[in-house]
Amino acid sequence: MSIRIENLSYVYMKGTPYEKIALNNINININKGEFVGIIGHTGSGKTTLVQHLNGLLKPSAGKISIDGRDVTGENIKELRKQVGIVFQYPEHQLFEETVYKDVAYGLLKQGLPEEEASRRVIASVRAVGLNEEILAKSPFELSGGQKRRVAIAGVLAMEPEIIVLDEPAAGLDPKGRSDILGFISKLHKESGLTIILVSHNMEDIVKLAERVVVMNKGSVAIEGKPKDVFCNTQLLEEIGLSAPQVTYFMHKLKDVLPSVNTNILTVDEAKTEILKALGVCK
Ligand SMILES: Nc1ncnc2c1ncn2[C@@H]1O[C@H](COP(=O)(O)OP(=O)(O)OP(=O)(O)O)[C@@H](O)[C@H]1O
Ligand SMILES: [Mg+2]
Repeated sequence: MSIRIENLSYVYMKGTPYEKIALNNINININKGEFVGIIGHTGSGKTTLVQHLNGLLKPSAGKISIDGRDVTGENIKELRKQVGIVFQYPEHQLFEETVYKDVAYGLLKQGLPEEEASRRVIASVRAVGLNEEILAKSPFELSGGQKRRVAIAGVLAMEPEIIVLDEPAAGLDPKGRSDILGFISKLHKESGLTIILVSHNMEDIVKLAERVVVMNKGSVAIEGKPKDVFCNTQLLEEIGLSAPQVTYFMHKLKDVLPSVNTNILTVDEAKTEILKALGVCK
């Protein structure tokens, strides 16, 4: 499913002294099956933007269409079947007494028979790498990483065509981060779903996204392939972001190894480039 966001603006608490323009004339197109990363410093409007995709927020101005159909005119139930959002804070998504009930929640709300719901719950819990034993536990006994996985399982169970993950790795330790991100990457490769990943973290976005949208103060500051976006270190810094650490490393290395290419975003690319510059390999 393709998404078209046209001249989208959103104002919180419009008409009050607390009025806040959170999004200002956003235009983004996302193709079917694409993996798009949304990055930006805190308060830049990332969460506000993605909450429009399944009708949680309604545009103050502009329009969002999915496969050509305006989402504001869509039946919310239908829309939530198509677009699944894993929230920034999994605690906001998990509220039932057991993991089973949480993962089944949306399915039962859609009116799915218990048997089919149960089949999907088990399949999606397994798909996120959890053991079925977790189903009987309370979501509140889970670790941070397990909570994220359960929240993702609840969204996968709905079999959406578009999945939005809002900071899915925030607050996890390095192993938890790489597990979750590895899972998301595998999901994209195997399922061909359209994935939108919101993150503060350059390294994560670089590893996964095919296209990056950089948000700044409610607007799109830069958009393009990771290489084109992240190698523009000056512009990133102007808006309070930074390129991946390894990119800075390559810039420093160039002082002593002038032939090295600094247009590098990952450690693996750096390794290849350095070996090449040293004449160890081509
Ligand atoms: N419910 C709300 N009421 C009023 N203002 C809000 C509300 N939610 C967000 N805002 C404001 O809207 C702006 C955008 O917030 P948003 O949560 O979309 O940013 P974000 O990029 O997701 O930030 P973070 O990286 O911290 O998650 C911020 O200035 C924020 O203070
Ligand atoms: Mg946010």
